[in-house]
Amino acid sequence: MSFKIESVLTLQKKKFQSKISMLTCYDFQTAQMLNETDVDLILVGDSLGNVILGESTTLSVTVEHMKIFGKAVKKGAPNKFVVVDMPFASYDTVSRGLRHASDILQFTQAEAVKIEGAYPYQCELIERLGMIGVPVMGHIGLRPQSVHTQGGYHKHGKDSESKMKLMQESKNLEAAGAFAIVLECVEEELSKKITDSLKIPTIGIGSGSKVDGQVLVINDLFHNGKNDPPKFCHPVINLFEEKQKWLKKYIEEVKKGQ
Ligand code: KIV
Repeated sequence: MSFKIESVLTLQKKKFQSKISMLTCYDFQTAQMLNETDVDLILVGDSLGNVILGESTTLSVTVEHMKIFGKAVKKGAPNKFVVVDMPFASYDTVSRGLRHASDILQFTQAEAVKIEGAYPYQCELIERLGMIGVPVMGHIGLRPQSVHTQGGYHKHGKDSESKMKLMQESKNLEAAGAFAIVLECVEEELSKKITDSLKIPTIGIGSGSKVDGQVLVINDLFHNGKNDPPKFCHPVINLFEEKQKWLKKYIEEVKKGQ
């Protein structure tokens, strides 16, 4: 078990050495648990909008949310490289992105931020953040913050136009200085092509196994919720049902006066 914190440089070396494991986390105690594992990266994802706040999209997540949850996670996992999502509309201009990213990192003490998309102004933002010392993880394919323009949650990179676009986006993110890229729900063969064509690591979710690493929402891995997780996720346990059993037992014992 290794407790040495990763850096963007050690992570990038891993591309050619071993697979990178990343999990989301939103609270102090789970972060403490992850801190004592070999997981390479922790993501304080804006998926907290779904699994913590019960929203149907991530659009209502704010910078304040990311700061509060990000700080709790970093406190629990001081030895881990923690990436915090920039939430919806917090980087709609380069200057707002610079301000919010530095605010999030100063407050949470996390190591990096993640942004969704690769439009030219976003690449400029990544470059500018790099200049002030903020590592940025990119995120392309399914971008939950753009669910309404992308027409829902579905696979990307199926037709030739979308394939070319995703390939170009990954190149642009790398050129801008992103230290890694999340590929969410990207068609498997395209994920492999993108991975093979980049020097920086790709971290897949719902994008097959031919990528440099994998990320999952931790609540999905443990089936914490009532609803089934996305099809690509195979939970290791059904904690919702397990906890229900223990709750039933507790309530029965209280009723019996025990
Ligand atoms: O918010 C999140 O949890 C994410 C992962 C799904 C990559 O962005």
